[in-house]
Amino acid sequence: MEFASRSPVNPAIDGQSLAIIGADVVVMDEVRRLDIGIVDGRICELAPTLQQRYAHTLHARGLCALPGLIDTQVHLREPGLEHKEDLVSGSNAAAAGGVTTFFEMPNTKPATTTVQAWQDKLQRAAGRSRVDFAFYAGATAQNAKEIASLEGRAGYAGTKIFMGSSTGSLLVAGDADIKTLLLNGRMRVAVHAEDEDRLRLLRRTVCGRQPHDHPDRRDPQTAEMAVRRLLDLSLETMRPVHVLHVTSADECALLRRHPARRLATAEVTPQHLLLSAPECYDRLGNLAVMNPPIRDEHHRLALWQALHDGVLTLIGTDHAPHTLSEKARPYPDCPSGMPGLQTLLPLLLNEVARGTCSLAQVVRWTSQRPAQVFQVIGKGGLVPGLDADITLVDLQLRQELTPNQVFSRCGWSPFLGQKLTGWPKMTLVRGNLVYADGQLVGAPIGKAVKLGPVLSIVPPS
Ligand code: DOR
Repeated sequence: MEFASRSPVNPAIDGQSLAIIGADVVVMDEVRRLDIGIVDGRICELAPTLQQRYAHTLHARGLCALPGLIDTQVHLREPGLEHKEDLVSGSNAAAAGGVTTFFEMPNTKPATTTVQAWQDKLQRAAGRSRVDFAFYAGATAQNAKEIASLEGRAGYAGTKIFMGSSTGSLLVAGDADIKTLLLNGRMRVAVHAEDEDRLRLLRRTVCGRQPHDHPDRRDPQTAEMAVRRLLDLSLETMRPVHVLHVTSADECALLRRHPARRLATAEVTPQHLLLSAPECYDRLGNLAVMNPPIRDEHHRLALWQALHDGVLTLIGTDHAPHTLSEKARPYPDCPSGMPGLQTLLPLLLNEVARGTCSLAQVVRWTSQRPAQVFQVIGKGGLVPGLDADITLVDLQLRQELTPNQVFSRCGWSPFLGQKLTGWPKMTLVRGNLVYADGQLVGAPIGKAVKLGPVLSIVPPS
C-alpha cells in the first residue's frame, strides 16, 4: 500500500476528498474489488474505477475494506481510574483495532449518574479521543427522570443498568426500580443481567476460593434468572432492552423463546466465544476472571450457535482493563474484567481464516447490527451517504500478539502470544486516517455520535 497525497500523514484531515483505490470490499455477502470515493468525511461512491477526481489517493491493493467497528461495551475508566486506562489510551487501542466508534460504560469514579457527569465525559473526550464516541448514563434507584432527559443528545448511548453488582457500586437490583427506569425514556436500555439475590446467596454458600470457582460463584442460573426478569419487564413496559455479555446456553434458550424476543437484543463478547473453563483458568488464572464468567465448552458452543442463529444480535467486547498488579491480588479480591478493544477484530478475522464464520458475518456482528440496534446515525456500512469509517485489513497476515503492540494502558491481553491470521492495517474515521501499520496517525479527531429513536423490532438475521 502507498499514499499519493499532498499531505501523506493524514490524507483527508483538511476535509478534502480522498479515493481509496483497489481494496476488496464486502458488499452484501460478496467480496468485490472496488474503489471508494470520500468527500467531506462521507462515502460518496463505490465503483470498479472512480471517474471523479479526488485530492488524495490511498492505494489499498491487497487489503480488504470493512466498515469501521462499533463497540457497544467498553470501560475506559476516566475519570477516576486513569491508572488502568483513559480516553486517550483507550481510544488509541480502538483505532489500532479497527474500532471507529465506542459506547463507554458509566462505572467510573464518580459514576456517570447525572447530566453533569455525562457532560464532563463528553468534554473530556473532545480533542482527546481518536475515534467517535457515546457515553452511557448509569441507572440508580433515583435518577430515571434525569437520565431520560439526555435522550436525543449527541454522545448519549442510553441507560446502563447493573442488575447484579460488579466493578464499582452501581446497582439496581429490584423489579420496581428497574420498571421505573424502563418506563422513563424510549431508547434501548443496556443491562448487565445477573440476579443480585442469587449472587449474594452463592457468595455465602460456594466455598471455593480459586479462579476456577468463579463460574460457580456466578452460576448460569444467576444470569438466566436476571434475563428472565428483564425480559418480563421489557414486555410489560414495551421498552426495548439489550442484554450485555450473554454467557450461557440457558440465557440463549430463554432469548430464543421468550415472548419479548422481538423487543430484546443481546450481545456476546469475543472472550466468551473463544475461551472456556477450566482451561482458561488453568492457563490465565485471575486474568480470565470477569463478570459474568467464562464458562465451559457446553456454554461456549451454545453461544456460537445462538450468534449464527441471530438469537445473539452482535458482538461487544466489555473492554475492562485492570492493571496486572491489581489482577495479582488473590482471588476473589482481584478485580473482574479484561481488555478487548484492540483484539476484537484480529480474533474474529482469525475465526474467518479458521472457517468458523464468514467475513460478511463479522461485518454484520460488529458494525451493521450495532448501528441498527442502537440506530447510530451515519454509521454501520460502506454505503454512499454514510460516514467514511473504514478499516483496511490484511486477511492473510499471520502474526503473534505481543505486549509491545498493546495500546491499552493496562499493557496486557488474555490473547498475548497467540498467532492470529488477519489484522487491521489502517483505520479511517470520517475519512481521516487515524492508524496505519502499528502507528497512530494525526491528532485525535473523535466526535460524539448521535443515536436515533430506537426501532423496537429487531430485524431477523
Ligand atoms: O468483568 C467485568 N468487569 N464485568 C463488568 O460488568 C464490569 C467490568 C469492569 O468494569 O471492570
